[in-house]
Amino acid sequence: MPELSVIVPTYNEADNLPLLHARLSDALAGEAWEMIVVDDDSPDGTAAQALALHEAGHPVRVIRRIGRRGLSTAVIEGMLSSPAPVFAVIDGDLQHDETLLPRMLATLRTTDADVVVATRYAGEGGVGAWSAQRARMSRLATAIATKVLRAPVSDPMSGFFMIRREAFDAAVRNLSGEGYKILLDLFASSPRALKVAELPYVFRTRQHGESKLDTAVLLQFGLLLLDKTVGRFIPARLVFFALVGGLGVIVHYASFALAFFAAGASFVAAQTLATVTAMTGNYILNNMLTYRDARRRGVSFFTGLLGFYLVCSIGLLGNVGIASYAFSLHYEWWLAAFAGIVVGTVWNFAASSIFVWRRRSF
Ligand code: GDD
Ligand code: MN
Repeated sequence: MPELSVIVPTYNEADNLPLLHARLSDALAGEAWEMIVVDDDSPDGTAAQALALHEAGHPVRVIRRIGRRGLSTAVIEGMLSSPAPVFAVIDGDLQHDETLLPRMLATLRTTDADVVVATRYAGEGGVGAWSAQRARMSRLATAIATKVLRAPVSDPMSGFFMIRREAFDAAVRNLSGEGYKILLDLFASSPRALKVAELPYVFRTRQHGESKLDTAVLLQFGLLLLDKTVGRFIPARLVFFALVGGLGVIVHYASFALAFFAAGASFVAAQTLATVTAMTGNYILNNMLTYRDARRRGVSFFTGLLGFYLVCSIGLLGNVGIASYAFSLHYEWWLAAFAGIVVGTVWNFAASSIFVWRRRSF
C-alpha cells in the first residue's frame, strides 16, 4: 500500500516523464510511494511513456482522458483514483524541485498541517528565469487571489504541494475544477480553514516541451474566481457566455452597418449576414474561452458550429416569443426586450453546454 501518491498532470511531456520518474525515485527512495500520471490524450505519446514505466515494474499508473483538457480536473481525478492517505501534486516538466518531497512528507507526519505548499514567494524561494512580464502577472494574480479568496499562503498559485486525503475529501464536492489553480480551489472549497505549512523553493526552467499556460489561462483564472464568489447564485460560465453574447451584439451592429450602409445590401440581407456573423463569432469565442476544456477542433469544430446555429435559432424564437408576450401584457418595451434576452441567453447557454460542448465522461 503506498503512503504517498504523486499525481502528475501531463500534456505533451513525453521527453520529461522518464526523467521525472528517475528523479522522484531518487528523492523518495525508501518511501512507499507511487506515481499517478493523468494524461489528456497527449499527441506526443506521454501516456505510452507512463505505461512503459509501469511495464518495467515501477509503481506507476496512468489515467487517460479523451476529449477533455484541464490541469485542475486532471489532478482531482488522479487523487480520486488513489488509495493513499497522502497526495502530492507536481508538474511533469521538471520545473518543481522534487527534492522537497521528503521534507513535505516529514512535515505532514510530524505536524498537524493539512497541506504543505512549496512556495516561490517566501524565504529562499524564487521564480527563477521567468520573464519580467510573467513574474508581474503571477504576482498580480497572487495578490488578487489572496484578497478575493483569503488563501492563507504566500503562493496560492503554486502547482506543487502535498495534502492529506481527509482535507481533500472534505473539499472535493465543492471543488470548481476550473482552470489551472487547484490549490486555490482547494482553499476556497474547504469547509474549514486548512492548516498550512510552507517550504520555499526556486522554480526551475523548462528543458523540454513548452508551457501550456497562455493568455486564456488568465480568463480561466477569472472563471475560478467568479465561480468561488458569485458561483453560488449564477454559474460562472453563464457570466462568460453572457459577456461573449454582449460582444456579439457589437459584432452584429458592426457587420450590419458594413453590409447595409457601406455595401448597400438590402435590410433583410444585411440583417441575415449580421446575425450569422455574430453567431459565428460567438461560437468561436465560446469555443476558445467559455468551453475551452471541451474545445472543438477539426471536423468537430464545424459540426459544433452547425449545432450552435440550431441552438441559437431556437433561442431566438424563445427570445422573441417571451418579449412579445411581455410586451402584449403592457410591460415597458425595454423590460419586455430584456426578458426576451434573458430567456434566450439562458436557453442558448444550457442547450449549447449539453448539445455542443458536452464533455465526455471518459
Ligand atoms: N492533464 C493535463 N491537462 N495536464 C496539463 C494540462 C491539461 O490540460 N495543461 C498543462 N498540463 C500539465 C503540463 O504537462 C505540466 O506537467 C503541468 O500541467 C504544468 O503545466 P505548464 O504548462 O508547464 O505550466 P507552467 O509551468 O506555465 O505553470 C505551472 O507552474 C506554476 C507555478 O507552480 C503550473 O503548475 C501553474 O499552475 C503554477 O502556478
Ligand atoms: Mn511548467
